[in-house]
Amino acid sequence: MHRLQRLLLNPSAKYAAVFLSVVIAGFCMAQNTRTSGSEQDVFAVNQALGSGINLGNMLDAPVEGEWGVSFQDEYAQIIRKAGFRHVRIPVRWSAHAAGQAPYWIDPAFMKRVRHVVDTCLKAGLHVVLNVHHFEEIYTTPEEQEARLLAIWKQISAEFRTAPNELIFELLNEPQAELTTAKWNRMIPTLLSEVRQLHPNRVIVIGGGRWNSFEELEQLQLPDSDRMLIATFHYYHPFEFTHQGVDFLKETPPPPGRKFPADESEVRSIKSHFTIVSQWAAKNKRPVYVGEFGVAQTAAQSDRVRWIQMIASEASDRGFSVACWEFCSQFGLWSIETGLWNTDIIRALDSVGAKQEAGSPSKDR
Ligand code: BGC
Repeated sequence: MHRLQRLLLNPSAKYAAVFLSVVIAGFCMAQNTRTSGSEQDVFAVNQALGSGINLGNMLDAPVEGEWGVSFQDEYAQIIRKAGFRHVRIPVRWSAHAAGQAPYWIDPAFMKRVRHVVDTCLKAGLHVVLNVHHFEEIYTTPEEQEARLLAIWKQISAEFRTAPNELIFELLNEPQAELTTAKWNRMIPTLLSEVRQLHPNRVIVIGGGRWNSFEELEQLQLPDSDRMLIATFHYYHPFEFTHQGVDFLKETPPPPGRKFPADESEVRSIKSHFTIVSQWAAKNKRPVYVGEFGVAQTAAQSDRVRWIQMIASEASDRGFSVACWEFCSQFGLWSIETGLWNTDIIRALDSVGAKQEAGSPSKDR
């Protein structure tokens, strides 16, 4: 008799075999839920985002054009041809949504956003569409929560049939009164609203203090939702990246700041990225550096060095990135000349090429 048949005829061995097969089946199911489908997909989507650029200061200005730049249809092709794989589109919905329930968004504005999104998708770019500069929610979060929910209800309805290449980002840079703790309480409600029409769409979420990397540790993303990408923004050292800019409430850091000021600056940048990648490994979440950039007031060689370093630290750890931004104060492309800052594009290309060759992750 075959050894297995003999075993199965023995009653205690039979129970043991049944028990064993239940355990094995359970183990296989657990393996399946851990490795199959959604979780894999969201990492693949993050890889597909690769390197992108923010269409900054356009639809996030109080009125498009007020900050000197507005979206032109040809920008999508210019960006795609330069090798970027996605655009992040910051949108100030709150300037175009009623102050009272049901907080209707101006249909003309919705149409304009739709046009910008569709133009970028048609150019073969992934699109990250967010809620940007919602100033009121940063100062009075409790009062504005319903408004943010209503804004997402309307965005969800408008883009309900959009392709998977469209990604949503719930809120840019929670800050001031909107602490990570308060933001954590809003996330599940917002997600369930969006998930009604977009059960599988990838959604980007970051923590408080202007999407600081240090807040990720406190950020609570619902465990059951595996279609999320965590984000943080990176502008360290601020005195370098924001030297001489004219939009800060406080006096801007003086121009002339070099990068790196010393070796410890390089070490601290690397350690910040390592902290995030350890968080990502522990929490099994893909990571997106949704903003990083240097104002044009910095010296060109330092600007190139910093951007290359950040892109490289990110790509070594499998993070996707989006430069801040296309053609304004931090811009990589000039409206006047119609030319890219080729040194920066070359620096980003060298990182992209390394990424495609599959460089190993540093900290996992
Ligand atoms: C803000 C922009 C600003 C940039 C760099 C972004 O999050 O929305 O207005 O230019 O950060 O400070």
